[in-house]
Amino acid sequence: MGEYGDLGDVQGKRVLVRSDLNVPLDGSTITDDGRIRASVPTIRELADAGARVVVTAHLGRPKGEPDPAYTLEPVAARLGELLGHDVRFATDTVGASASETVAGLEDGQVAVLENVRFNDGETSKDDDVRGGFADQLAQLADAFVSDGFGVVHRKQASVYDVALRLPSAMGGLVAAEIEVLRRLTHEPERPYVVVLGGSKVSDKLGVIDNLLGKADRLLIGGGMVFTFLKAQGHEVGKSLLEDDQLDTCREYLARAEESGVEILLPTDIVVDTAFPAGDRDPEPRVVAADAIPADSLGLDIGPESATRFAEAVAGAKTVFWNGPMGVFETDAFAAGTRAIAEALTKVDGLSVVGGGDSAAAVRTLGFDEGAFGHISTGGGASLEYLEGKELPGISVLER
Ligand code: 3PG
Ligand code: MG
Repeated sequence: MGEYGDLGDVQGKRVLVRSDLNVPLDGSTITDDGRIRASVPTIRELADAGARVVVTAHLGRPKGEPDPAYTLEPVAARLGELLGHDVRFATDTVGASASETVAGLEDGQVAVLENVRFNDGETSKDDDVRGGFADQLAQLADAFVSDGFGVVHRKQASVYDVALRLPSAMGGLVAAEIEVLRRLTHEPERPYVVVLGGSKVSDKLGVIDNLLGKADRLLIGGGMVFTFLKAQGHEVGKSLLEDDQLDTCREYLARAEESGVEILLPTDIVVDTAFPAGDRDPEPRVVAADAIPADSLGLDIGPESATRFAEAVAGAKTVFWNGPMGVFETDAFAAGTRAIAEALTKVDGLSVVGGGDSAAAVRTLGFDEGAFGHISTGGGASLEYLEGKELPGISVLER
């Protein structure tokens, strides 16, 4: 029985599965169900083995109390469609509805509990408060399977504390994700190219720090690039800027030079005078990266940079990509992100799309998921692993 063989025979047992079902929604419409699809195999395997499967998950960041905007009900319905099973839904997480729903499960049936973050114990910083809530969750099950890779970097009740209270094992999704990350960190085949984008440098400091000693080339795009350009002495107009990170960026550029790691920054940028464009259509213009007009902001890497980045990616043996190159949700600013995704599909080696946003970008832009070596379901979790940090949701299983 896969990676959770150590739980023994699960026939007739109540198995609590922590999945990451945190999908983007437009109202109650799921706009990308990738994380639900990725969660199906473990749930199906347990159900097929005769377990009574109780799925716990979060959606968004509600404030520790019920909030209808974040109900998991549409997600549970989609899970049922994908499983081809009837999925029961409990309207609370550890209350009367949860107890009744779980008690009513027959062998091989699946239930989803309401958003675990509707309970303030889930994310509490106080170990006792979290523990008290984990006790309640643990009462609903005989065993625990940790399969929510996107949350293993969170020390939260349904990820960490519950594993201290029940016989626990890693699910197949988490095991597969960790295996890929291990390949990225233990003697990756070279050249090893890392592409980083997204809006904030401050989210990526740890990973840049760590990769400066490991990757051969670091390609930087997205909103965070303007802090690097400014650090090089260029004006960036109205672009995103983190003033307090300028010194850090300068230090990284200097260290890269010393350590022989090549940091590639874009040489051209797609700008507009406002974003969103308001009543008018977007008016994308390509400018040199060192000549961004004062009245404009950068919204994508330019075509010359996209070509250069794509060449660097396509020539690599190992690639990790996290974060879009521009505001890809708007067609006028999607070309950079599209070029990177396209280049990853051509890699003769291991290509990894790391994370929620980049994974959603790849699917939104219409790429075939099978063209990539691996599409991770966890952005923050992947980055923290690559930073060399301990992931509480993993280490608790290894005790
Ligand atoms: C994610 O979407 O990054 C994961 O589901 C974790 O969610 P969180 O960042 O709100 O903890
Ligand atoms: Mg996150």
